[in-house]
Amino acid sequence: MHIVIIAGGTGSRLWPVSREANPKPFIQMEDGLSLLQKTYLRGRTTGVIESVTTVTNRDLFFRTEDEYRELSPSEPLHYILEPFGRNTAPAVYAAAMELQQRYGDSALMLVLPADHLVRDEAAFAKAVVLASEVAAEGRLVTFGIQPTHVETGFGYIEIAEGCDVSGQHAFNVEGFVEKPNRDLAEQYFVSGSHLWNSGMFCFQVGSLLDEMAAHAPSLAQSMAVALEGSSRSQGNGHTVTRLEPETFGMVEDDSIDYALMEKSSRVSVVPCDLGWSDIGSWQAMAELLEPDADGNRVTGSAELEGTRNTYVRSSHRLTTAVGVEDLVIIDTPDALLVAHKDRSQDVKKVVQRLKASG
Ligand code: GDD
Ligand code: MG
Repeated sequence: MHIVIIAGGTGSRLWPVSREANPKPFIQMEDGLSLLQKTYLRGRTTGVIESVTTVTNRDLFFRTEDEYRELSPSEPLHYILEPFGRNTAPAVYAAAMELQQRYGDSALMLVLPADHLVRDEAAFAKAVVLASEVAAEGRLVTFGIQPTHVETGFGYIEIAEGCDVSGQHAFNVEGFVEKPNRDLAEQYFVSGSHLWNSGMFCFQVGSLLDEMAAHAPSLAQSMAVALEGSSRSQGNGHTVTRLEPETFGMVEDDSIDYALMEKSSRVSVVPCDLGWSDIGSWQAMAELLEPDADGNRVTGSAELEGTRNTYVRSSHRLTTAVGVEDLVIIDTPDALLVAHKDRSQDVKKVVQRLKASG
């Protein structure tokens, strides 16, 4: 299996820890590992790894390398470096083109986003075995998660009514809708025949390239041109492909979900229960921790008095709170966030305003 880690996005909902210079994949979890490192290790749990390709922003290259070095990688490492983001469709397509050149059409690739968490790695490894069998038949395989609430930030995968999603079975996908509006998301949530798209995929390289050529031909063509115009180097047991702004700038900005998953009729899903969380807000991050008797959760150093249901993340100095409830308090050296726990999604509004004001 060839692992493809996509890690070039930003992620403003975990501000002030996640920023352009320190995007979500670099956020450290309780065990001291970053989401990026955990993604790499997750790839390894699936068995023998033939290679690991990371597609990311060029400014994050050295940090990415450093983070991998701590894991003593023995797999061949390939990097594809972007001058700026063009979303996930170009990133996945570029990885497939390079894998095709090195390993041929029948190579299997497992695409892993570096911005979420999978707690049950054994279940994940099992799901990948099934996914790789289905992908080897030419299907584009998604990993479907049972929805737990109405959510507009995910893709929804429709399967035929009455499918038993509790066993180890893959199903043909009837429809895929990326980020539906609230009304649709509510309908999908109660339908019983929709799963969330986890954002991970398993493809045979040749099938992915064929389907992209069929459904996103101009993106595929411009990406091929960008790869031809890229510069390549080798060293320290890895290869590096650097995309150039002039040619990569001609590639459309689109996600793999809109560009391909909504359009292809060759999509399958492996339903799975992985303890998956996309950590879409500080409240979601808090819920990964066990609360104390007062419902408080702390990462780092805090002293709380008469405080309930509050999450504190404070890595560089002591934070104290007295007589407050239902807060999220995130302290970093140069910015402090205090939010009501039910509004922690709205942090991105502040980030947008800060960006607009320069
Ligand atoms: N290299 C590269 N370049 N990586 C990128 C880029 C880019 O331009 N844009 C995003 N990524 C990476 C992000 O770092 C993340 O790891 C992954 O690709 C997914 O991108 P997001 O931007 O976080 O996508 P999303 O969360 O809105 O939606 C996707 O994930 C959901 C589950 O978390 C979709 O696949 C949804 O269908 C899915 O439900
Ligand atoms: Mg995401």
